Amino acid sequence: MDAFVISGGRPLEGRISVNGSKNASLPILAAALLTDEAVTLRGIPDLADIANMLRLLGELGCYCQASGDALTLRTIDSTSVHARYDIVRTMRASVCVLGPLLAMRGHARVSMPGGCAIGHRPIDLHLKGLEALGARVTLDNGDIVASVPGGRLVGAGIFLGGAYGSTVLGTANVMSAATLARGRTVIESAACEPEVVDLAKLLNAMGARISGAGSPRIVIEGVDQLGGADFEVMADRIEAGTLMGAAAITGGDLVIDNCPLDAMMGAIETLRTMGVGVEPIVASDPMRASVRVFAGSRFRPVEITTQPHPGFPTDLQAQFMALMTLADGISVVTEKIFPERFLHAPELARMGATIHRSGSTAIIAGVKRLVGAPVMASDLRASAGLVLAGLAAQGETVINRVYHLDRGYLSLERRLQELGGQIERVDDRVLAARDVAV
Ligand code: EPZ
Repeated sequence: MDAFVISGGRPLEGRISVNGSKNASLPILAAALLTDEAVTLRGIPDLADIANMLRLLGELGCYCQASGDALTLRTIDSTSVHARYDIVRTMRASVCVLGPLLAMRGHARVSMPGGCAIGHRPIDLHLKGLEALGARVTLDNGDIVASVPGGRLVGAGIFLGGAYGSTVLGTANVMSAATLARGRTVIESAACEPEVVDLAKLLNAMGARISGAGSPRIVIEGVDQLGGADFEVMADRIEAGTLMGAAAITGGDLVIDNCPLDAMMGAIETLRTMGVGVEPIVASDPMRASVRVFAGSRFRPVEITTQPHPGFPTDLQAQFMALMTLADGISVVTEKIFPERFLHAPELARMGATIHRSGSTAIIAGVKRLVGAPVMASDLRASAGLVLAGLAAQGETVINRVYHLDRGYLSLERRLQELGGQIERVDDRVLAARDVAV
């Protein structure tokens, strides 16, 4: 397994461009199942999760051809409807194929996603929404087995809110399925995340009739069929926020291009409150802006609560907690989306951070400096938080199990090196040998 070895304390400087969004790409790739025509997608990042989704689509008869930065998907065999446990257990977002399979093929068998490092993640709302459209759903041998009596879903009014608010992939699933339903569907308490908006744009380009995406009420007028499209996915707001955090925590000065500023107001407001400079340079397209990010001396403490969009995103909580460990006072994080998502906190404590956790709240008393230590990556964003901490810490930080990070960040170490970060990818067997030699 690979690890990162980071020598901290070097300010990041230079220019970097944000990649296409992983979380927008996953349901967008699944939407290729909704048509027999070719769907060409641009800007899909070359990540482990994307490779998994393409493998799953291949098993479902939807094949992909790459040319330059474009991927063209086309369904040529509609017989398989099974998303196997082997794939679903490595990537929960496999559940995105459920809605498209039901709408197009009238049947789906999708392995039930299991536990997850960031907490309990049920899919009851996905199933409730699809049932409201007329699907029959049962559980068999760990698989969700769903079918559409009569062969076509029927539009309906659906309240999709749950105990923790809206659901992003649940909204994606139900919205995708409803494009081909008979009649009108209204999703109330829909997720407002920019990735849902991006999916709606693609579906509309394929011939769907969706309005209201980005608001809590989405209306879909069902159509008889969808066609092909040529579409570029949005830039990754979580990668952009992570890079902003990296500039800030190292006392650096970065220009970040292709930045979806318009989708990042919660994060940017938090950075500014902490004393970090965030200055748009070119923002004629606010979803692909160029922005300068630079740090002042010490960070001011801040209080954040993670919320559905446009609130502060849970996917930046760990990275911003790394910043808070160095703030001049006490910061508070309340995690309202995934109340257990604090696996990074004890690892940050190994680096000298002072963090007290009580239920879904963490209280962080800023320290003057972090010190390098061996730490363990536990999930994608927790790993990114540890990278930020390592870049700022005195001495050497070794982050084990960075395969978590590779699920969502493309060649992060190489890109940080280009900005002056001292970070290396090492096979952990090489590390073990080095430790023995020492
Ligand atoms: C998406 O997951 C993202 N994944 C997650 O990013 C992100 O953390 C999350 O949205 C929240 O923003 C992808 O887009 C691939 P939810 P999703 O359904 O859609 C509860 C990352 O690091 N809930 O919006 O699965 C749920 O438990 C990943 O890139 C139900 O109760 O999340 C949570 O508390 C991790 N029932 C809340 O809703 C359901 O049926 C929001 O989850 C579904 C969800």
